[in-house]
Amino acid sequence: DWNPDAFVETTIAELKAKLGDDKVVLGLSGGVDSSVAAVLLHHAIGKNLHCIFVDNGLLRKNEFEAVLDSYKHMGLNVRGIDAKDRFLSQLAGVKDPEQKRKIIGRVFIEVFDDAAHEVQDVKWLGQGTIYPDVIESVSVKGPSATIKSHHNVGGLPDYMKLKIVEPLNTLFKDEVRKVGKALGIDPLILGRHPFPGPGLAIRILGDITPEKVAILQEADAIYTNNLKESGWYDKVWQAGAIFLPVQSVGVMGDERTYEHVICLRAVGSLDGMTADWSHLPYELLAKISNEIINNVKGINRVVYDISSKPPATIEWE
Ligand code: XMP
Repeated sequence: DWNPDAFVETTIAELKAKLGDDKVVLGLSGGVDSSVAAVLLHHAIGKNLHCIFVDNGLLRKNEFEAVLDSYKHMGLNVRGIDAKDRFLSQLAGVKDPEQKRKIIGRVFIEVFDDAAHEVQDVKWLGQGTIYPDVIESVSVKGPSATIKSHHNVGGLPDYMKLKIVEPLNTLFKDEVRKVGKALGIDPLILGRHPFPGPGLAIRILGDITPEKVAILQEADAIYTNNLKESGWYDKVWQAGAIFLPVQSVGVMGDERTYEHVICLRAVGSLDGMTADWSHLPYELLAKISNEIINNVKGINRVVYDISSKPPATIEWE
């Protein structure tokens, strides 16, 4: 029988033997996989693990600071890099979803490469790759997937000439969570919903501006907080708000308004390949809608997505 404590013990011993006194760089995303991989490596090689956590300006409200803090509490040697302006300026005016993904992947690699360069004599790149990623190795999704799909291609950034260490590449997601628990990682990190690498960029339909990011972050925070308070956060597999590129008429007091629409999405799923829309209670939806419309300037309408995958996808872009 597979046992998380035994896995932790053998893996740490193997990593120690394999890495010796070598240095490793690893990009943290705030997600479960990279966090668990980092903590395992940290147990094996301590301060020789150099973690890099990039703020692309497309994370949830206050998430960068909160997650960076919890990494520091875990004792990880982590460097937070504020690259918000770099990402947002490169994304300005771009509407096409695949183009957005490509830009975010490229800028991530540039930022990561710069930071990795500053680690003297680094020999290894640590990654939180899990078994399903290995199978699904040809993926077009996200910065981490972009890194994977670029292996063995010419003209690589310097850090890709590093040897790769992937301590989780035999595990499924539920096993990664068990390993994380065995390692004592904060349940807040282990229980987090999946979040796409390109972040809010693919939840703002059309072009991205700092104003739209700020509006979506506010609406998404109200949504997420209500899911947590009502106990629904752990009952759905993934949830998030989407900023729609349409304006509609409303009234506020005696005034006619003409403002944007926020769509709420929540799904149940096992692996993201198929998904059913979650039947959130009407009272909860009503509360969230009121809070968003009353508190988020620029939004006068909230809708709920009742589409399942297939044929809809979880994300809108
Ligand atoms: P879809 O929209 O394809 O999403 O039903 C399935 C799962 O994948 C996530 N997703 C992404 N993750 N980079 C990522 O790292 C991406 O570009 C990306 N696009 C979708 C999505 O959030 C859901 O969990």
